[in-house]
Amino acid sequence: MSHSAEPDPSVPDAASFKPSRTVVLVGLMGSGKSSVGRKLAHRLALPFRDADIEIEHAAGLSIPEIFATHGEAYFRDGERRVIARLLDEPVHILATGGGAFMDARTRAAIAAKGISIWLRVELDELVRRTARRNHRPLLNQGEPRQILAGLMEVRYPVYAGADIIVDGGAGDVDEMVDRVLAALMAYTPAANAAAVHNE
Ligand code: S3P
Repeated sequence: MSHSAEPDPSVPDAASFKPSRTVVLVGLMGSGKSSVGRKLAHRLALPFRDADIEIEHAAGLSIPEIFATHGEAYFRDGERRVIARLLDEPVHILATGGGAFMDARTRAAIAAKGISIWLRVELDELVRRTARRNHRPLLNQGEPRQILAGLMEVRYPVYAGADIIVDGGAGDVDEMVDRVLAALMAYTPAANAAAVHNE
């Protein structure tokens, strides 16, 4: 008798899986939206867009320069418009800046046109990762741990409205990509509550 494993038709094949909508990664600074997003896009053979980079291109300025020259409100306005435009592009993987999902209009646009995934990462890990670079204006305004903890309080209840939640630990980017991909393949938009995927 042969024991060759037949593929289980109820489990989608990662190689041929294509999300039906743009996958929008949300989460705090340092949660890995850009690094996970880039690799996820590669795995799914989809384009990758990083909203922060698109905002910089549109403004012709770096994010620290936008904050310093025009202020945060101007940045948020550009962020909303850029994400609205990106959501009208063909299906892709979209990494957003940590504040983007806090905007009600952006959340509504993502809900209408995308699948949102919150990369939920613990404070220690966020502090460790964001300490590597100093290009984030919000973290240069004081003690990064305190700032991140404060943002967690305000933002986590809102991020919790994402379609899918994936918990990330200290594991590497590839592990996180695997978990995100598994969560995405298991996701059915009909589910009312957010699907939570722990490590
Ligand atoms: C911000 C996060 C940053 C960038 C800007 C503001 C925020 O993006 O959009 O500095 O408000 O959390 P990352 O989350 O990609 O670092």
